Amino acid sequence: PAGHLADRLQRPLHDLRISVTDRCNFRCVYCMPKELFDKHYQYLPHNDLLSFEEITRLARIFVAHGVRKIRLTGGEPLLRKNIEDLIVMLATLRTPDGEKLDLTLTTNGSLLAKKASALKAAGLSRITVSLDSLDDDIFKRMNDVDFPVSDVLTGIDAAHAAGLGPVKVNMVVKAGINDQEIVSMARYFRHTPHTLRFIEYMDVGASNGWQLNEVIPSNEIVRRIQEAGMPLIPLKSSRIGETAERWQHVGSNSEIGLISSVTHAFCGDCNRIRLSTEGKLYTCLFASQGHDLRALLRDVKQYSDLQLSNAIAAIWQRRTDRYSELRSLQTKALNDQTKKIEMSYIGG
Ligand code: GTP
Ligand code: 5AD
Ligand code: SF4
Ligand code: SF4
Repeated sequence: PAGHLADRLQRPLHDLRISVTDRCNFRCVYCMPKELFDKHYQYLPHNDLLSFEEITRLARIFVAHGVRKIRLTGGEPLLRKNIEDLIVMLATLRTPDGEKLDLTLTTNGSLLAKKASALKAAGLSRITVSLDSLDDDIFKRMNDVDFPVSDVLTGIDAAHAAGLGPVKVNMVVKAGINDQEIVSMARYFRHTPHTLRFIEYMDVGASNGWQLNEVIPSNEIVRRIQEAGMPLIPLKSSRIGETAERWQHVGSNSEIGLISSVTHAFCGDCNRIRLSTEGKLYTCLFASQGHDLRALLRDVKQYSDLQLSNAIAAIWQRRTDRYSELRSLQTKALNDQTKKIEMSYIGG
């Protein structure tokens, strides 16, 4: 018997993020650095990927448990063969009230000019494109495969023209790498129908290499944009559990978003769950262990939908994750400690 679920911190389940491939044609330095993802890297063999039927079966169960938004991600989701067929299948799902889902996808934009109208025709509701710079040199240094800015911009415009707008554009800001692009990105997208969102660089992927001084805090980003002559006013959040804080450009309808996972963690109402390419379910972006749903899907015992549904419910109901909030506390403690050491040094 499915219904609305709550985890241990009383958070409902709302977003399902499905990774459809572990491959990407970019090598962004903060995500798939070339040194690690070289020609020897072992990607998942095809049999390990969830099939479209398996994904759709699980998605239907998640929707019965309250999921209202499905986002396809990766890797680069548009590299998954026949991804349009999966979108067609997911687009037929309905909430218990007969409503359509919010069905979206996060892409690097490289294949978008070619695929936008097919994605729309398949039933995609909207799209998010990652773009870290408008400067070719900086962008190429970040994607590390010599991919030019103009092709991504063409992709974004094609998506808008195909009816996938308003397009959200995600910019990960890394201090000293692309932070000088904050103002030009704000200026450029202010005159477009697209919504630009600045993302604080996060310590994803267990790397100790991440350093707090590589993060430009969102309030600093807002300050720089305002100082450059683009006044902003804060907007009310449009829904619970939203990742971005929204701001409007004064004198225009254009808005920007700030995703402050480091300086203003939003675990408090995090309603997102993640399904990996090989069918592991993660209750947090930073979770170290997933729950193997593929094992259940492919078990000789042939579990029923009800059994799968109960397994998923149990996973969500046990959830306590709030990694970013805990990290903030730790970072704060660390800073306090550092300060203390300095003071005793001076005092001594
Ligand atoms: P919209 O419905 O379009 O607003 O989607 P979204 O903001 O939920 O999804 P998107 O993939 O655009 O997320 C943007 C960025 O926010 C990601 O690239 C991450 O950097 C960050 N993010 C998204 N979800 C989480 C999360 O659950 N935890 C943390 N810490 N960061 C997240
Ligand atoms: N910190 C913040 N955002 C990241 N992304 C990838 N790695 C990081 C990171 N370390 C973003 C991409 C894209 C989305 C899928 O995740 O830029 O917008
Ligand atoms: Fe990672 Fe996206 Fe860059 Fe590919 S385009 S390397 S998935 S951040
Ligand atoms: Fe949700 Fe984990 Fe991100 Fe916090 S860190 S917002 S709990 S995914």
